Amino acid sequence: MTRPDEAGHKSARRNFLARAVVAAAATPLATNALAKVPQGSTAAPVNAEVASEAFFGKHQGGITTPMQRSTYFMAFDLATTERADLIALLRAWTEAAANMTHGPAEIDPKPDATQVPADSGDTIGLSNARLTITFGFGPGLFEKDGVDRFGIARQRPAALADLPRFTGDQLIPERTGGDLSVQACADDAQVAEHAIRRMVGLAGAVARIRWAQTGFSAGFKAGETPRNQMGFKDGTMNISAKDAATMNQFVWVGEEGPSWMRDGSYMVIRPIRIALEHWDRMKLGFQEETVGRHKYSGAPIGKHHEFDKLDLDATDKDGNPMIAENSHVRLAAPESNDGAQILRRAFAYDNGVAQIAERWPPWRQAMTFDAGLLFQCYQRDPRTGFSRMFEKMAKFDMLNQFTTHVGSGLFAIPPGVKPGEYIGQKLFG
Ligand code: HEM
Repeated sequence: MTRPDEAGHKSARRNFLARAVVAAAATPLATNALAKVPQGSTAAPVNAEVASEAFFGKHQGGITTPMQRSTYFMAFDLATTERADLIALLRAWTEAAANMTHGPAEIDPKPDATQVPADSGDTIGLSNARLTITFGFGPGLFEKDGVDRFGIARQRPAALADLPRFTGDQLIPERTGGDLSVQACADDAQVAEHAIRRMVGLAGAVARIRWAQTGFSAGFKAGETPRNQMGFKDGTMNISAKDAATMNQFVWVGEEGPSWMRDGSYMVIRPIRIALEHWDRMKLGFQEETVGRHKYSGAPIGKHHEFDKLDLDATDKDGNPMIAENSHVRLAAPESNDGAQILRRAFAYDNGVAQIAERWPPWRQAMTFDAGLLFQCYQRDPRTGFSRMFEKMAKFDMLNQFTTHVGSGLFAIPPGVKPGEYIGQKLFG
């Protein structure tokens, strides 16, 4: 990722201000958020050494971007039936995202005490902390309750087929679905939250919050695989974003179209609650059998190094498989799924504690951690990606003793934009 062009940033900001006036007139609730963007500070941000991530490009940021430390995901429902409102919102969101990802918030040199501040001000003095903002279009954008609200039902991609109900799903409606999604990722949680607050402000009465989830990822050295809350290295066998051929084969939409989705992708997001206290009581050997890898080295069972080959045919001296039949990695591996691969970009989440009933012995009912994995994956077609893989895992994965899918979202992630374009523009062209 490259540092954005400074001149481009300034002209983008000017365009945003010009359009803000139009958008503010159309959506009264957005007025305050758009009235004025603070400018003019020359002070170096606290974390100035952190580079920006590019906003403009062939693909949206936040997909192949090296993982940031924090995320804030939000799904929205559209409250309008006016195509013009939707387009104005996408335009305003795109402009705001370009501005926020390209530059730190600045202090208004001429504050006006009679006006509501244009910006909440909580990122003044901070850099943008590698902020990326990624937009998605849910099935409801194309058709809701049989109604083609925006005249685009015929453009719904076949790959955006509703996910089937999987065995064990305990999806909470308030954590599921959405017509639009916005995800901010940054190395500073306050920068990510600030970006989402700005998007909510711009949404005004056009789009309402449906659900949201924040998340975090462990700090780790470049080139090392981070550990998840279960203590295992997570991401060892992930697709490498640098492997263009594999990315084109499994992640980016190609000629199968529709053309407005070319170079985009499809994202499945699922908050998966993990019974952490239950897991922490399990013997090391059982934990490793469940995952199919050694906990500390990350190596496949029976091997020594993290990147040693995962040999699903290996057997012990009694002829039993080294990697258990129902272990997570065996069921997730391409060899078990007609070669299917996905790009995972999961964060951990922790919402504190909640009253929870465990699904498996000892069926504890108590206040427990409301925490787990904000699972996220990108693929060219969820029917041959996530769904192909998870159909069997949902029934047989040993990990299911500790995990419950409590929410779900499916979004078309349009390609990236050039300066002057808005996200998904070709869909409305
Ligand atoms: C709380 C839920 C989950 C946890 C804690 C978890 C954890 C892990 C761990 C520790 C590994 C081994 C290291 C690695 O290769 O990354 C792994 C591998 C993998 N997981 Fe998960 N996972 C979860 C859910 C899922 C789901 C829902 C899917 C997709 C449907 C999935 C797909 C994969 C894939 C494709 C691999 C690599 C398999 C291979 O090629 O060896 N995981 N996961």
